[in-house]
Amino acid sequence: MGGERRSIIVPILWMMVLALMVVTRTQGKRINLGGVKEQGWKPDYNYTEWSMKQRFYVNDWLYFGYDRKFYNVLQVNKTAYENCISEDPVFNVTGGAGRDVFELKKPVTYYFLSGGGYCYHGMKVAVHAENHPPPPSEQPSPPAKNGSQSNFGTYNIMLLLGLAVITTWLFKSLY
Ligand SMILES: *[C@@H]1O[C@H](CO)[C@@H](O)[C@H](O)[C@H]1NC(C)=O
Ligand SMILES: *[C@@H]1O[C@H](CO)[C@@H](O)[C@H](O)[C@H]1NC(C)=O
Ligand SMILES: *[C@@H]1O[C@H](CO)[C@@H](O)[C@H](O)[C@H]1NC(C)=O
Ligand SMILES: *[C@@H]1O[C@H](CO)[C@@H](O)[C@H](O)[C@H]1NC(C)=O
Repeated sequence: MGGERRSIIVPILWMMVLALMVVTRTQGKRINLGGVKEQGWKPDYNYTEWSMKQRFYVNDWLYFGYDRKFYNVLQVNKTAYENCISEDPVFNVTGGAGRDVFELKKPVTYYFLSGGGYCYHGMKVAVHAENHPPPPSEQPSPPAKNGSQSNFGTYNIMLLLGLAVITTWLFKSLY
């Protein structure tokens, strides 16, 4: 009985762990506008100051939580951002529920504002998306040797070690 169960559970466990590894390495994080999930997109808030304290990377998601009765989210160009022009936006992010997400797909500066005149009350933000830096543990290492473009850095070894420990622990606690 126990043997059968084990033979099924262990591969499943490994698959879950591997899936998690892939997801954590490739998926960006979600960044709430204004730093809060509820009503973070609102007038009379300095988003310039806020964005200066943040780092944005390609594949990160911006989350705009706001009162849908008043505000919306429009992606605009630099000129429109500077002059609060809400006509003919680059992209209308507004979904209708007051909970919009926008993926930063490219390493460029994105501009957003709210229509309805609220842009004049500070509801505009410029976000510069950077390319992902190498994992911190790989940064101080010397330049890669020519021809050996291995990505298997300290980060991955640590990850595997951690996984080995977790799996062993799970295995023991199950049997
Ligand atoms: C927002 O903060 C930035 C940086 O501190 C500042 O330069 C700017 O004048 C502020 N804007 C408003 C509308 O207060
Ligand atoms: C920027 O967007 C505005 C409309 O919001 C448009 O009139 C203008 O032509 C655009 N500028 C560029 C350089 O695309
Ligand atoms: C954006 O989309 C919303 C609904 O999805 C719509 O109500 C609104 O008029 C649109 N705004 C612009 C400027 O296109
Ligand atoms: C590595 O390759 C670059 C060009 O791709 C070359 O300039 C450099 O000298 C090479 N370094 C070594 C250590 O071979």
